[in-house]
Amino acid sequence: MPTTINVAAGDATNYETPALVVNLFQGVTQPGGGTGAVDRALGGVISQLIADGEIKGKLGELTLVHTIDRIPAKRVVVAGLGKSQDFDTGAVRRVSGEVARFLRRKGIGEYATIAHGAGIGGLNAVESAQAIAEGTLLGLYKFDNYRSNGNGADGGDDPDGSDGGIQAVTIVERDAGTVDELTAGVSVGTVLAESTMLARDLVNHPANVMTPTKMAEAAREVAETVGLELDVMDRDRMREHGMGAFLGVAQGSEEPPKLIVMTYWGDPDNPQNNLGLVGKGITFDTGGISLKPAANMEAMKGDMAGGASVIAAMNAIGSLKPRINVTGLIAATENMPGGRAQRPGDVVTAMNGKTIEVINTDAEGRLVLADALCYARSLGITRLVDVATLTGAIVVTLGKACTGIMGNSGKLAKDVGAAGERSGERFWELPMLEDYRELIRSDVADMKNSGGRQAGSITAAMLLREFAEEADWVHLDIAGTSTASSNKGHLVKGATGVPTRTLAQLAMNLANGK
Ligand code: BES
Ligand code: MN
Ligand code: ZN
Repeated sequence: MPTTINVAAGDATNYETPALVVNLFQGVTQPGGGTGAVDRALGGVISQLIADGEIKGKLGELTLVHTIDRIPAKRVVVAGLGKSQDFDTGAVRRVSGEVARFLRRKGIGEYATIAHGAGIGGLNAVESAQAIAEGTLLGLYKFDNYRSNGNGADGGDDPDGSDGGIQAVTIVERDAGTVDELTAGVSVGTVLAESTMLARDLVNHPANVMTPTKMAEAAREVAETVGLELDVMDRDRMREHGMGAFLGVAQGSEEPPKLIVMTYWGDPDNPQNNLGLVGKGITFDTGGISLKPAANMEAMKGDMAGGASVIAAMNAIGSLKPRINVTGLIAATENMPGGRAQRPGDVVTAMNGKTIEVINTDAEGRLVLADALCYARSLGITRLVDVATLTGAIVVTLGKACTGIMGNSGKLAKDVGAAGERSGERFWELPMLEDYRELIRSDVADMKNSGGRQAGSITAAMLLREFAEEADWVHLDIAGTSTASSNKGHLVKGATGVPTRTLAQLAMNLANGK
């Protein structure tokens, strides 16, 4: 059952709720603000716990205090915000996620919280409320579609499924004049969190369910709900467009491939005000004839995470309605080693006429993206962001802490970075030096699809660059960031939905000329 986030004007100290969340910066011995008022009403128990060294205010630290009827709230949770100089919306998101799971584990169905950081924390009320909504909703995310009892599957947080879930969280604000801003922040945060959870669902579904056809259906549902144009291209239409690189990957599978095109018209009179989001949608990557080893191959159901984040971002964009035209393109197919599968050594011709020697059929993402980028260009899109679980090498380079950015436009890379600053999703740019181009030089074709062991993420991007051509373009390699290995803050084990919120934020920033 979904959780709702509300905002209420009132005094937290006198608010009746099963649990009230207050906060504390690290090193503070005499709490002020809402926390100070609650401390006084409780006879100084919080400052006593601080003095005893039991509450330190470390980021994510949670302390439960029973109020034994001294205030209307039955319990108080003191949430550590960390050092005040490190404080940002990321800390709010993290704390909100931890608090939500903590109280769910306690079997609490609803609670109230003060707006972390909106006062002395220095955040504006909109950003604070947005981060609380995102952290809470995303932190409570569970994927239990395949549990016959409907429980569990949340990374061990609730192994016996005894909780009934959190129905409602209320942000209590003393200053009635701030309520409107908090409410606006909550509504944006809710849209972004729900869209991110859509991306997580698409990724978490197994590949026997989440086929290219199913992805197209998910895109149709989004398009109908928020009002987008939708075009789903099948194999025959792709052939008419000469998408030999995409079709080469798809030919090893019985599952029909789909090139899904979703368009949001936010500024129809200005077609040059556009953004294209291109997602890799490999619904299962066996490697093809260059077959992957068996160990962990099941993780390759998540090789459509880029496509999922594009569908999800289009949902957010269609809901938030920025003044910019945004087209989402999702290149969806399986990569299978069937009897008609392409072979190492095959040469394919992409839509723009460029030829690629397929050295390794497991380097399939760049092949499907090549044609999707060409098609985006043929639609007149001049600003492109592609998102893909493209290389194992990016996980070696950056781990799971940030997404790799590569591209031909420093400006667009900066724009993505700025959107990431706001969303809390992190990015790091890798150098697109000309020296790397020779690594994908082919003896027989315009390029080859694998550059070997050196600079594996960058050589993949070098191939994509050949198809972005004159457009401003950046490539986001999310092979590391698309999944989380444990619950932490707003992330739960499994799909993260990255970079849905950043893509939506990018569209909003570009629309506002930022
Ligand atoms: N989908 C994989 C990349 C990947 C690896 C995603 C780990 C998530 C986690 C991609 O299609 C792939 O197989 N890449 C190869 C490229 C190589 C053959 C040039 C890789 O990274 O090993
Ligand atoms: Mn592969
Ligand atoms: Zn892949």
